[in-house]
Amino acid sequence: MRKKKTIGVIGCGNMGSILVKGLLESGLYPASRIYISDTQKKKLKYFKRAGLQVVDNRRLSENADVVIIAVKPDAVEEVVSEIKEFLTPSKVLVSIAAGISTARIEKILLKKSVPVIRVMPNLNVRVRAGLLPYCPGRYADGCEGLVEKLLAPLGIVFKLSEEKFDAVTAISGSGPGFIFYIAENIKRICKKKKFTEQQSAIITSYLIYGSGKMLAETKLSPDRLKEMVSSPGGTTVAGLKVFEEKNFPEILKESIEKAENRSKELSRA
Ligand SMILES: NC(=O)c1ccc[n+]([C@@H]2O[C@H](COP(=O)([O-])OP(=O)(O)OC[C@H]3O[C@@H](n4cnc5c(N)ncnc54)[C@H](OP(=O)(O)O)[C@@H]3O)[C@@H](O)[C@H]2O)c1
Repeated sequence: MRKKKTIGVIGCGNMGSILVKGLLESGLYPASRIYISDTQKKKLKYFKRAGLQVVDNRRLSENADVVIIAVKPDAVEEVVSEIKEFLTPSKVLVSIAAGISTARIEKILLKKSVPVIRVMPNLNVRVRAGLLPYCPGRYADGCEGLVEKLLAPLGIVFKLSEEKFDAVTAISGSGPGFIFYIAENIKRICKKKKFTEQQSAIITSYLIYGSGKMLAETKLSPDRLKEMVSSPGGTTVAGLKVFEEKNFPEILKESIEKAENRSKELSRA
């Protein structure tokens, strides 16, 4: 009989703990087949009570078929070096560290042909509506199905060539920050217009939630949806004219380019 797969997550901070919760809720792996480790044991208490296997990095890598690295980018090299003796070509190493290429991880592993997959989740995985672009490393052909199944409970998982990772980091990784910035300003305006705190919060969140839902569910283009609220001579057209006059598209383009350049700089560091 084939042995049932086990999974391990190294680093249970912001992202790691969301991944572990997603895995647990998906039911893909029962708690007893999920291994977790973190230098800060207090972060593991909740999971230990839920029946997960709390171990150290080495024991985790020895036992898990799929090892997910969710530590900060500057700790990746140390962690991969620590566990590399347990990684074999039959295992899969998944890294969510921003700016760390599959080649860089493969180099630390030296000549071992371990399948490495790089994933760039965004914050929205927290509400299971994340974007999770991934790219397989040079030995990871054939691991796509496993990774897609594993991450599907957290949002939309899609394959993307690694050369696009700085751009996708800027757009979908930093993107929630840009949208929240818009939300912050809409809420501020609501308050100035004397809406209550509660009204301002509801208007802001449902405006963005509902518009996102429209985009995702109707499958109509942003352009077409914009047209649907833009009757000639009406309020939306009057407001949009200011966006054009102040060159909002250029502001957005510049913001994304700055974020992309920063991602490139961090990748080189
Ligand atoms: N947060 C996001 O929105 C986001 C989005 C996409 C990708 N990511 C990537 O996800 C990764 C984790 O980010 P995060 O925000 O979740 O970081 P975090 O909250 O700092 O979580 C990382 C955890 O790993 C622990 N850790 C550090 N070194 C370790 C080691 N050698 N062995 C075991 N555990 C160790 C850390 O403990 P200490 O605090 O003691 O160091 C911390 O508890 C990063 O590489 C980041 O680039 C994050």
